[in-house]
Amino acid sequence: MAKVKVTETVLRDAHQSLIATRMTLDEMLPILGKMDKVGYYSAEVWGGATFDSCLRFLNEDPWERLRVIRREMPNTKLQMLFRGQNMLGYRHYADDVLEYFVQKSIANGIDIIRIFDALNDIRNLETAIKAAKKEKAHAQVAISYTLGDVFTDEYYVNYAKQCANAGADSICIKDMAALLTPYKTAELVKAIKSAVDIPVQLHTHYTSGLASMCLLKGIEAGADIIDTAMSPLALGTSHAPTESMVAALQGTEHDTGLDLVLLNEIRDYFMTLRAKYIKSGLLDPKMLATDANALIYQVPGGMLSNLLSQLKQAGKADQLTEVLKEVPRVRSDAGMPPLVTPTSQIVGTQAVFNVITGQRYKMVTKEFKGLVRGEYGKTPVKIDPKFRKQIIGDEKPIDCRPADLLEPELEKLRAECADWTEQEEDVLSYAQFGQVAVKFFENRRNKKFGIDSAHANATKGVHPV
Ligand code: CO
Repeated sequence: MAKVKVTETVLRDAHQSLIATRMTLDEMLPILGKMDKVGYYSAEVWGGATFDSCLRFLNEDPWERLRVIRREMPNTKLQMLFRGQNMLGYRHYADDVLEYFVQKSIANGIDIIRIFDALNDIRNLETAIKAAKKEKAHAQVAISYTLGDVFTDEYYVNYAKQCANAGADSICIKDMAALLTPYKTAELVKAIKSAVDIPVQLHTHYTSGLASMCLLKGIEAGADIIDTAMSPLALGTSHAPTESMVAALQGTEHDTGLDLVLLNEIRDYFMTLRAKYIKSGLLDPKMLATDANALIYQVPGGMLSNLLSQLKQAGKADQLTEVLKEVPRVRSDAGMPPLVTPTSQIVGTQAVFNVITGQRYKMVTKEFKGLVRGEYGKTPVKIDPKFRKQIIGDEKPIDCRPADLLEPELEKLRAECADWTEQEEDVLSYAQFGQVAVKFFENRRNKKFGIDSAHANATKGVHPV
């Protein structure tokens, strides 16, 4: 059997999961050269919430971060996470913006784009896959893994085939909510491997304490690549530790070939960062605890803490149990979407409203209406027309690919931010983060003129993906 390949997530998902995506480029820089020598299959360094966090909290140009990492890691494939037609933002974008974003991501250094859709609606991925392949990048499609009657092996196999047919170069099983169990993983990997002949990668979070076992069973069942994180930022809501997985496989037919001594030197560096994050309070020890709640409530860890904070704001923290019972009901009403950005926020917020107003759907959010109307794509289960009518009234449901309804918008966006742009990529920052990007452009300009703007320091809940 071929060697198992390793994708290192410490520079993206690990810190997104543990410290709200606050690792800075300055903190990464001293270790990038050493990481480049490891021989990882790839390093996930960009996308997800990193782009948002750079602009909103760190006063960093996400594009510059990517270029610097590229320069420092010339021998390692760089990987990003991409939310299909939502790109890195929270709405659907027109195809012209998406194509430009993919083109610029690759031009600035990305080799592998991991594309996913919250509803597993292949139509939302097709433009991104095509755009990535056009630029000669590797288009990986991630299947959003979730539980529910409809989510059988057959469902996932069927979706995996659709992904392969759409041109995916590999498939990732993306278990953002840590719902996989070891034997389930083996079964699923086997089913998908027997249906498609492209590599299968495993992405699972440690939240419920099962990730290492899931990876091992997945590897035995034929998984080609695993996602791990350097141990100082592993475990808890993050991933299985890189060094432990490397050690577990050493000397077997699945040997990763990675050097534990070199990894240990890298570990030493990240230990200093970890100590710093704990000291500053950025790393909450709670995030490192094993929590089987995910398996009980089937909501991602980040969603649980968001629900609690919404309830606290409303002075109703005592109603968390009610809300946790309401989440699966709302999810079922809404056609059983997997709970991942942005559906986790949409379903969660609606469940909170249903509970705190004392009447289900008395108040309905704009986003929930959009989900029910079909603005995000096709839900895994058909929504009951009666329920849809109750939520959207006489508005016309959407059943085409949502982006087909969008006019090209790149030129309009370009005109809107023309006063601020200093590089071609700026329009893409603006497209996704509007005023947040403008604020960043403003700070950048001020800095040029010697005015040091204070860094924004607010915190914002970000769901693990
Ligand atoms: Co993740």
